[in-house]
Amino acid sequence: MDGLIALAAPDMAAVDALIRRHMDSPVPVIPALADHLIAGSGKRLRPLLTVAAARMAGARDDACLKLAAAVEFIHTATLLHDDVVDSSELRRGRVAAHLIWGAPSSVLVGDFLFARSFELMVGAGSMSALEILARASRVIAEGEVLQLTRAHDLDLGQDLYLEIIQAKTAELFAAAAECGAVSAGAPPERCRSLRKFGMDLGLAFQLVDDALDYSSDSATLGKNPGDDFREGKATLPLLLTMARTGPAEREFWVRTVDRREQTDADFQRACELMRQTGALASTLDLARSYADSAKAALADFPANSWRPALEALADFAVGRRA
Ligand code: IPE
Ligand code: IPE
Ligand code: MG
Ligand code: MG
Ligand code: MG
Repeated sequence: MDGLIALAAPDMAAVDALIRRHMDSPVPVIPALADHLIAGSGKRLRPLLTVAAARMAGARDDACLKLAAAVEFIHTATLLHDDVVDSSELRRGRVAAHLIWGAPSSVLVGDFLFARSFELMVGAGSMSALEILARASRVIAEGEVLQLTRAHDLDLGQDLYLEIIQAKTAELFAAAAECGAVSAGAPPERCRSLRKFGMDLGLAFQLVDDALDYSSDSATLGKNPGDDFREGKATLPLLLTMARTGPAEREFWVRTVDRREQTDADFQRACELMRQTGALASTLDLARSYADSAKAALADFPANSWRPALEALADFAVGRRA
């Protein structure tokens, strides 16, 4: 990833300045709450993707910078909403905003950040980019609601799980890359390839996120592992473990996931079963295959310095610890 970070450093500094400027508001709680989240250790992967896609597609002007900032605002807005929905207590190594300012402020500042993202998109002046990011915003919301309505569903199939993560996470990665390419005036097939790269990268990214929720620790992750289990989220590691432990453990899953009657020891036991059954390894294998598919989507691009940098981003998504 170092190559990509170095290549994109001047653009990302400009994106950062745009983010800072657009966080501002005369209403006191808004900048304070936004700053709490934005000054945390966010990876800024999605705006990086927008900038890299635009530059790889030959962008010479700076339209992609506003789009990149807009993409990060959409992401940040969804995080504020997500932590309320998931009752999460830690985000980017800090106490979640809703525990400091309350859920109502968190939700409303999330709306503010969403609105800011649309101001930035309009400022970028591309109707196609606006269309791509507007659709992504709608699809993310649909994915989150779909996931909510299927919480603690022990019989959620793998197809529906993939549909959920595609909507709630991969769609924004896809849109981030596609809008960068579109703003650079890239030909349609190049825009489609970069969209595919973002989509498969996003699927890999969320699969790894779902594995880390059972295998990492708060200090490394900046979030509390175990949130998915506590909320009874039927993510792939859980679906695979339940399938592989069979009827013997059915009662354990019904109590902990369906009825959500849990002790700390139950989470440890779930983690243990995930390792024993190879469910975590299989989840990471699937993530690896999506990352490989993402890289394959770049095959027709000239081998300039951006291409290996984006390939490294796909590898990072699978190998990451946070
Ligand atoms: C968190 O995304 C939300 C998911 C889609 C899993 P990131 O892991 O990219 O969050 P930050 O921006 O780096 O904090
Ligand atoms: C991320 O899913 C979905 C969105 C941000 C829309 P998670 O709920 O798994 O994300 P984390 O783990 O809280 O970051
Ligand atoms: Mg969450
Ligand atoms: Mg969530
Ligand atoms: Mg998660």
